[in-house]
Amino acid sequence: MSFITRRKSIEAEVRPDAGPRLKATLSWPHLVALGVGAIIGTGIYTLTGVAAGLAGPAVILSFAAAGAVCAFAALSYAEMATLMPHAGSAYTYSYATLGEAVAWVIGWSLILEYTLVCSTVSVGWSAYAAGLIEQAHWAVPKALLAGPDAGGVVNLPAVFIALVVTGVLLIGTRESATVNFILVCVKLVALAGFVAITLPHFDARHFHPFAPYGYGAHEIDGKKFGVMGAAGIIFFAFYGFDAISTAAEETKDPRRDLTIGIIGSMVLCTAIYMVVAACALGASPYDVFSKSGEPLAFVLRQLQQPLAASLIAGAAVVALPTVIMVFMFGQSRVFLAMARDGLLPRRLSGVSARGVPQAVTILTGVIAAVIAGAMPLSDIASLANAGTLAAFIATGLAVMALRRSRPDLPRPFRTPMVWVVGPLGIAGCLYLFTTLRTITIEFFFLWNAVGVVVYLLYGRTNSRLRAIDRAVQA
Ligand code: ALA
Repeated sequence: MSFITRRKSIEAEVRPDAGPRLKATLSWPHLVALGVGAIIGTGIYTLTGVAAGLAGPAVILSFAAAGAVCAFAALSYAEMATLMPHAGSAYTYSYATLGEAVAWVIGWSLILEYTLVCSTVSVGWSAYAAGLIEQAHWAVPKALLAGPDAGGVVNLPAVFIALVVTGVLLIGTRESATVNFILVCVKLVALAGFVAITLPHFDARHFHPFAPYGYGAHEIDGKKFGVMGAAGIIFFAFYGFDAISTAAEETKDPRRDLTIGIIGSMVLCTAIYMVVAACALGASPYDVFSKSGEPLAFVLRQLQQPLAASLIAGAAVVALPTVIMVFMFGQSRVFLAMARDGLLPRRLSGVSARGVPQAVTILTGVIAAVIAGAMPLSDIASLANAGTLAAFIATGLAVMALRRSRPDLPRPFRTPMVWVVGPLGIAGCLYLFTTLRTITIEFFFLWNAVGVVVYLLYGRTNSRLRAIDRAVQA
C-alpha cells in the first residue's frame, strides 16, 4: 500500500467491549461544568485585550463567531473521541481514516499547537504575575518582565512558569478532580467579581463607533483587523473542550449528555466571554485597555480598585497554570502516539519509572519556555490557532469519511445532522484560517514543509505500518 493511503486498522483503535467499564454517573450538567473549567484561560483573561484592539467594541461579535465555529467542530470531534477513546487526538483519527500522510501533517500541526498553547498561556500568566510583582514593589528590572516586543529583554516569569509546570509533570503529577474543581471556581468567581465591579461604571458611549475596523478581516501592518480578524485570534479562548469527550464513558446517556455538554459549555463560555468583554468595554475605552497585557486587572486599576485588581491577577496566576499542564500533557500523548507508530524516533517515547514520558516532556517544556521568553503573545496564539484549525478540519473530514466507509461501527455518540454540522464546522474553520495573519499562514506552511521533509527522510521508512505491510506481503 502506498504511504499516502496506508491506514491504521479502525478495530485496533476502537475500544474492545471486554474489560472493566467505568460507572455511568455523570449527566450533562457535570459535562458543562467540566467543559467550562477546561476552556476558560488566557483567552478571556488576556486575549480579550488583543482582540478588542483589532475589532473595537464589536469584539463581542468576534466571540460569538468563534464560539459558533467551535461548537460545530466540537460535535464532530466528540464522535471521533468517543469512538476511539484511547487515541485522544486528531492524529490517530486521521491515521485510521484519511491515511498516514494526512495523519503526519495533523500530528506535526498538533505538536505546533500544543507547544504554542503552553507558550501563549505562559505569556498571559506572566503579565498578571508582573503586575502583582510591580504592585508589591519588588525590585525586579522591567527588562526581565517582558519580551522584546513589549520593551523588555526576556520574559522571565513566562519562562519560569513553563519550566515549573514541566517540573511538576516530571514528578508524575496529574490534575486531581478536587484541585481542578477549586480552580474552576476561582476562575469563575474572579470573572463574576469583575462583572460586578465594572457594571456600575458602564458607559455606553464607549461603544461608539461599534465596529471601527469593519466586520470582515483585513490586514494593516501585519495585523488582521475587523470582527472576523479578531475572531481568528479569540478562537484560542474556546478550545480545550476535549476534556468533555474524555468523560463520555461515564455519562448516563452519551448522545444526549455530550450534545448538551458540548453545546452548553460553548454557549455558556461564549455568554461569559461576551459579558466580561462588554463590561471591560463599558468601563474603559477599548483603545486604552487593549494595550495592557493584563487587561482585566488594568480596567479595575483604572476604576481605582487596586485590591480587586490584585485579586483578579491572583486568580489568573493561581488558575492559568492548569491550562499549561493540560496541553503539555496532551503534547506528550500525541508525541508518544507518533513515536509508537514509528513516525518519530522510538527513543523519544521512553517512559520513566513514574510513568512519565521524560524526554518529550522536557523537550516540550524547554521549547515552550524559550518561545514564551521571547515572542509576542498574539503571534504565538494565532500560530497555535492555525494548528488547531487544521486538526479540527481533519477531524470533521474523518467523521464523514468513517460514516461512509464504516456505518456499522458502534458509536457511543453520533454527531447530530452530521452532513450539515460536519461541512459547516469545516467551512467555519477554513474561513477562520484565512483570517489569520499572512505571516502566520506562511509560517504554518513552512512548519509543515519542514514536517514533510522529516516524514520523507524518517517516518515514511520507519513507519510501523510499513513494516507490517511488508511482513504481510512477504
Ligand atoms: N481555551 C484556553 C485558554 O483560553 C486554551 O487559555
